Amino acid sequence: MILVFGATGSIGRHLVHQLRGADVTAFVRDPAKGDELGCRYVVGDLDDPASVAAALTGADRVFLNAGGAQPADGEQPMVRQQRTVIDAAAEAGVDHVVKLSVWHAREGGKLAEGAHWLIEEHLRASGLGWSVLQPSGFMQNFLTGAAVFTEHGHILGAYGDSRVSYVDCADIAACAATLLTQDPRHGETFVLTGPEALTHTEIAAKLSRVAGREIRYVDLPASAFATRLTALGLPAHFAHDVAGLFAEVAEGRLAPTTTAVTDLTGRPARTLDDFLGDNADTIRTSWSA
Ligand SMILES: NC(=O)c1ccc[n+]([C@@H]2O[C@H](COP(=O)([O-])OP(=O)(O)OC[C@H]3O[C@@H](n4cnc5c(N)ncnc54)[C@H](OP(=O)(O)O)[C@@H]3O)[C@@H](O)[C@H]2O)c1
Repeated sequence: MILVFGATGSIGRHLVHQLRGADVTAFVRDPAKGDELGCRYVVGDLDDPASVAAALTGADRVFLNAGGAQPADGEQPMVRQQRTVIDAAAEAGVDHVVKLSVWHAREGGKLAEGAHWLIEEHLRASGLGWSVLQPSGFMQNFLTGAAVFTEHGHILGAYGDSRVSYVDCADIAACAATLLTQDPRHGETFVLTGPEALTHTEIAAKLSRVAGREIRYVDLPASAFATRLTALGLPAHFAHDVAGLFAEVAEGRLAPTTTAVTDLTGRPARTLDDFLGDNADTIRTSWSA
């Protein structure tokens, strides 16, 4: 049995759909959301270790992703929660865990990059079979505007004119589905990107065409960006870390593209135009004002 954590999230929803026909169970905390998934599910919470252990009974492969929200106070519950899953999976005799991480996860990395590195290290030391997916930024960040910083309906950032190879979560899910149903590629890490790298000015122009109004990308120096985020209500140290992360991206480290999506799925990675076209109605509604 394949157990999917984060099944109701941006990746998990695609994954359980793509795994239809397989012996799959979703781990959800809200039964109403579980009902919408169209697959078997168990109800639990990552902060309730007993529910995690119960769900893992009989599982042989696990997709590990959850706790997407970044708390503003700097704590990372994701680390504690995912370590709980790893320990319980080892206890339950699971064969293999496919972990969703982030590109450039590393010791001392800012925000999610440091948190995912701690979890990856825990997984590597667990004795479990493992493979790791390290995606670039998600195209889904642009779906509603809730996952990017905006002011007066325009996108705010400190990326300069650097390019980012955003990837569609549907492709991340397809890669995970391959690893969960075919050779799980024990010990391998895959950097997943879209097929092209775009500047945020180019992305704003594409978004504008779909939304039917002008959406601009407003670039700020990192320190001014941090100040603006604080003015928008973010705690100062969190704003500082976000601006620092964006300044690192401005150096171009999310600009390369890889062939991992094609290598794993046998088809090309989806472009931003593909993504925007498929989600045009949502984008028009969400970005209308
Ligand atoms: N955004 C990016 O550009 C980007 C890039 C690379 C990597 N990442 C990584 O991607 C991950 C987020 O993935 P995503 O977009 O799929 O997340 P998401 O859409 O925010 O979904 C999070 C999932 O975790 C579940 N969850 C949260 N807390 C839980 C708990 N206490 N118990 C059980 N389930 C819980 C949520 O369930 P509910 O539906 O009940 O809330 C949901 O299914 C993060 O680790 C992030 O670091 C993001």
